[in-house]
Amino acid sequence: MRIAVVEGDGIGHEVIPPTRDLLAILRPDFEFFEVEAGYGKWQRTGQAITDDDISALRNADAILFGAITTPPARDYRSVILRIRKELDLYANVRPVKGTGVDLIVVRENTEGLYSGVEKIEQDSACTVRCITRKGSERISRYACGLAARRRTLTIGHKANILKSDVFFRDICFAEAEKAGVPVRECYIDALCLDILLHPSQYDVIVTTNLFGDILSDVAAYLVGGLGLLPSANIGENHSLFEPVHGSAPDIAGRDIANPIAAMRSGSMLLAHLGDHGSAALVDQAIEQTVLKGIMTRDLGGTAGTRVFSRGVREELERLAPGR
Ligand code: NAI
Ligand code: MG
Repeated sequence: MRIAVVEGDGIGHEVIPPTRDLLAILRPDFEFFEVEAGYGKWQRTGQAITDDDISALRNADAILFGAITTPPARDYRSVILRIRKELDLYANVRPVKGTGVDLIVVRENTEGLYSGVEKIEQDSACTVRCITRKGSERISRYACGLAARRRTLTIGHKANILKSDVFFRDICFAEAEKAGVPVRECYIDALCLDILLHPSQYDVIVTTNLFGDILSDVAAYLVGGLGLLPSANIGENHSLFEPVHGSAPDIAGRDIANPIAAMRSGSMLLAHLGDHGSAALVDQAIEQTVLKGIMTRDLGGTAGTRVFSRGVREELERLAPGR
C-alpha cells in the first residue's frame, strides 16, 4: 500500500507526523511518500500545488492530509478543493462522536456553492450554486448506505428559499425510498440549532457542500471542539483523510495543537482500506491516553502535542505489542 502524506501548513506539520507514526507501527507494509502543497510552497514557488503533485496523489492508495492555509490572493484556487475535484472525492464524511452524540455529517463535496463558478466585478460579485442530478444521487446513495447500517437519514436543506435545494431534497427523498431508509428533512438553519439541543435524535445527515462545511463545525461544539473531529473524502477510485480543522495559524508552531482529529482521520483511513482492527486500536489508544488524564490544552489538559502523541504511541504499543 502506498500512502501519500500531505502535511500542508501550520499545525499540519505538528499533527500529521505523529499520525503517520501510528499508522507505521500498525502497518509496516505501508509505504509513505510526502507531497508538498500549500501556502509555504506557494510563497516559495508561486504554486500551491502542481499537476505533478496531483498525479502523485492519484497514484496513492490513500492520502493522509493535514491542512492548508489559504494564500491571500484573489485569483487563488483552493488546494483542497482542487484535489477533491480532480480526484472526484464526492463524499465528505464527518463523524461526530462523544457522550450522547453519535452522528455523521455526509457533505456533498464537489459542487454546490463550491463549484468554482464565480466572478468578482467592480460593484458586484456572484457565486453560482450548481447542484446536479448525478452529484445529488451519488451523495444521497452514499448517505443511505450508511443510514441503512445505522438508524435514520436527515436531509439538511433550505428548500423553502432555494430552488436548487428543492431539486436536491427531492432526489434525496427518492433515493431514501429506494433504499428503504427512514428519512426526514430539516431546514439547515434550524438544524444547526437543533443538533446542539437534541444531538441524540440525529444519526446520518446528508447535505450540500457549504451547509455541510458549516454544520460539521457547529457539531464540533458537542464533542469538545475542532481538535477532535476527523473526516474522510471518498470517491470511486481515491480517498483522502484529513482533520476537519484548518491550519490554525494562531497556535501553529507552539506545540499545543490537539492531534486527535488527525489521528482519528488516520483511523478512518485504516478502516476504509479494510483494516478495522488497526482502526479500532488507534481509537482505543487515543481514548486510553485521554482517560489517563494526558490531554492538550483545548481539552483542559496541560500536555503539549508531542507529549500527548508520545502517550498515544506508547498506549498503542501496549495494546498491540510486537507490531
Ligand atoms: P481553523 O480550523 O484552522 O481554526 C479555528 C480555531 O480552532 C482556531 O482558534 C484554532 O486555534 C482552533 N483549532 C483548530 N484546530 C485545532 C487543534 N487541532 N487543536 C487545538 N485547537 C485547534 O480555522 P481558521 O482559523 O478559520 O482557518 C485557518 C486557515 O486554515 C485558513 O487559511 C483557512 O483557509 C484554512 N483552512 C483549511 C482547511 C483545509 O485545509 N481543509 C479547512 C479549514 C480552514
Ligand atoms: Mg470547514
